[in-house]
Amino acid sequence: MYNSLVGHNIAKKKLIRRARSSSDLSLPALESAKQDISTDREAELMSQTDVATLLAPELADRLRAMPKAEIHVHIEGATDAETFYQMAQRNQVDLPADSLEAWKSFFEFRDFSRFIEVYAAAVKCLQTPEDYALAIERFYSRQAEENIRYTEAFLSATFLTDKFEDDEILDAIASGRAAGEAKYRCQINLIPDISREIPDSQHRVLEFVLKGKERGLFIGLGVGGLEVGYPPELFAETYAEARKHGLRIVAHAGEAVGAESIWGAVNTLKAERIGHGIRCLEDPELVEILRQRQIPLEVSPQSNYCLGVVERGQPHPLRKMVDAGLYCTVNSDDPAMFSTSLTNEYLTLAEQGFSWEELWQLNLNTLAATFLDKAEKDNYRLEWEKFLHSAS
Ligand code: HPA
Ligand code: ZN
Repeated sequence: MYNSLVGHNIAKKKLIRRARSSSDLSLPALESAKQDISTDREAELMSQTDVATLLAPELADRLRAMPKAEIHVHIEGATDAETFYQMAQRNQVDLPADSLEAWKSFFEFRDFSRFIEVYAAAVKCLQTPEDYALAIERFYSRQAEENIRYTEAFLSATFLTDKFEDDEILDAIASGRAAGEAKYRCQINLIPDISREIPDSQHRVLEFVLKGKERGLFIGLGVGGLEVGYPPELFAETYAEARKHGLRIVAHAGEAVGAESIWGAVNTLKAERIGHGIRCLEDPELVEILRQRQIPLEVSPQSNYCLGVVERGQPHPLRKMVDAGLYCTVNSDDPAMFSTSLTNEYLTLAEQGFSWEELWQLNLNTLAATFLDKAEKDNYRLEWEKFLHSAS
């Protein structure tokens, strides 16, 4: 159903190849695979290489099944091309493509500014409050499919505050959430964000977010979009106001721009978490501050490859970040646009040498970095421990 499955399968195949050549015997998945076949005479004769081929599907299944948290994913970026296409037809929106196939291939990213252009074209397809309700309900389905038990998701508020009256769109968001909660076993909190390339929208967005917070629909404020030319400092007053009203504060930084953007997000915006943040590695002093304060970094490997932030074929800097003692989490960012899924992000990391134990730790980090209170986190942790025991 989703493009993400394509990426998932590609990663799976690559992992099989890697398993064939390296036979990583340390993973619990392999231990249980060995136990499953231990009473079977024929299986006992399997060579170690044959057993290792079981590793990939086992690990993929285990990663898909494991209860997960996600804290950096955009509702619009998780909406598949087909849904946008249907909405565009229904709403008579002109697309820069004259067939579904052409529209799908329009979603091919080479660099950041192209991505922002595609993102804006896709968001234009969402023209009615019902479109938003549907996109939100489908988002629940998508998260539930991968057992993402808890999510904090972005909603690009700049693009909706100029289309709708606050109450009509807040009603639609509430109804999308209610439909999703009734049908799927997952919890989702929303963090609207300002598109930084339209800084004039920030006051209006804040007003909208505060209304939504009062109705229990939103928990925080973010800023995303074009980082080059739109530094964090442009949003200082709005963020100060947001903090005063008890909104949780996050910011994309250190993705298309280097360390100065992260310094601004931390020092000026007082961001509690950083979206991406991978370019902190360019500045050892910043790495030290992020490490000391344990500010969570919302890392999304496939997004970085798709947008050219990390060169394809090169290992993702997450390894260096973890080794530096940084607080890292794993996320899918815009899964439908980047043909990925949260499971696929973990598989990508497995392929690059992260062990099951390290992946599980990253998953725990992600849960710990959510804005849930301690009791809520503890509930999830209990449930997750049960999964660990049942899976081993
Ligand atoms: N970075 C900046 N803006 C975005 C992103 C991102 O990863 N995803 C959606 N809008
Ligand atoms: Zn993002």
